[in-house]
Amino acid sequence: MKRLAILGSTGSIGQSTLSIVEQFPERYQVATLAAGRNIDEVFAQSVRWRPRLVSLATEELAAQLQARLHESGITGIEVVHGTAGTVVCSTRADVDFVVSAIVGVSGLEATHAAILAGKPVGLANKECMVAAGEILTAAARKHQVPILPIDSEHNAVHQCLRVGTHAEVKTIWLTASGGPFRQLPIDQFKSITPEQALKHPTWVMGRRITIDSATMLNKGLEVIEACRLFDVPPSQVRVTVHPQSTVHSMVEYIDGSILAQISVTDMRLPILYALAWPERPASSLTFDLAALRHLDFEQPDMERFPCLRLAFEAAAKGGTHCIALNAADEVAVEAFLERRIPFTGIADTIEKVLASTPEAHPATIAEVLAADREARLIAHALLA
Ligand SMILES: NC(=O)c1ccc[n+]([C@@H]2O[C@H](COP(=O)([O-])OP(=O)(O)OC[C@H]3O[C@@H](n4cnc5c(N)ncnc54)[C@H](OP(=O)(O)O)[C@@H]3O)[C@@H](O)[C@H]2O)c1
Repeated sequence: MKRLAILGSTGSIGQSTLSIVEQFPERYQVATLAAGRNIDEVFAQSVRWRPRLVSLATEELAAQLQARLHESGITGIEVVHGTAGTVVCSTRADVDFVVSAIVGVSGLEATHAAILAGKPVGLANKECMVAAGEILTAAARKHQVPILPIDSEHNAVHQCLRVGTHAEVKTIWLTASGGPFRQLPIDQFKSITPEQALKHPTWVMGRRITIDSATMLNKGLEVIEACRLFDVPPSQVRVTVHPQSTVHSMVEYIDGSILAQISVTDMRLPILYALAWPERPASSLTFDLAALRHLDFEQPDMERFPCLRLAFEAAAKGGTHCIALNAADEVAVEAFLERRIPFTGIADTIEKVLASTPEAHPATIAEVLAADREARLIAHALLA
């Protein structure tokens, strides 16, 4: 029985993880939950799953949850809050596995602490890897802690890498759906609305990652994530646009063989893989190969999607440039969703923030968070 800490339990990945727990009660149990502000959902989850501990973003929300649990006669659930709360959530002795699915860098300290505490991590939160991948992977190596990718592309790569050695890998191919604007004339990009950008053609996800998919910054973050997770330089990672989202990613080996992972577009599959690794439990998630007609692959258009170019440039520089890329994007996406900047303003903001970011390589999580704050300040100043 694996006892889980689910960081980001109220989000899209968090809820899919809980549905896996529901399907495999003999394998998984909920030990702790961490969420941000969705008090109704976290209350319902506490009633259903009876975790030992729940963490919320603020002290006020934690007090509200405590009062609601008390009124409902539910005892035995400790309620904590803030970064310290998420760290307790991910490091308690009764946690065997941590699912890291808080959006943005808010989950960074808890993910780092989990690795230091020797807990295997199922990593959905790519922003952690982008901002602090060098530190997280070094800690994981030192403490011999597996980091199992939940992001579907990296999960696919992880699966394809099981058949070869590191030295035999030629190229990691990340597939991208191309988002909703793959074929939109470039002169119409300025007038894209948040409603249009929030309609992803193949996946249902949280708001930030959905906008990031529309700008293809998400794929850029994944390039950086792949470099860190699989210990390869950016020149060994390539992106191919594959509108069917059937091949989740591929690994090309030096002998010319290319291995691909194909499955349904359902995040429960990579979550189950990460939770169960190195086993493969039988599941009801099937893919109808007979219904498959086309597998198209195209070169990504860097002019249409400048965020992808910016991400490759940041990947080559590493350190503060990767941190600034992620932080500036988060601020710019928020501004786009609030209709303060056009869709094209997201890439413009990131480019300007990167141009003002000095090159450095933070050695600690505190330094990473300081660089993250600095980049956000620059982005806010630009957008003010
Ligand atoms: N969704 C996908 O299919 C998918 C695929 C690959 C990778 N990912 C990655 O997985 C992560 C989560 O994505 P998502 O789509 O699940 O996002 P989401 O639906 O927006 O959920 C985000 C979660 O983070 C929590 N959260 C936000 N701020 C917090 C804070 N300060 N403290 C504690 N919890 C906080 C939210 O809590 P409240 O809602 O309670 O505020 C929610 O539970 C992201 O890094 C994303 O890039 C997602």
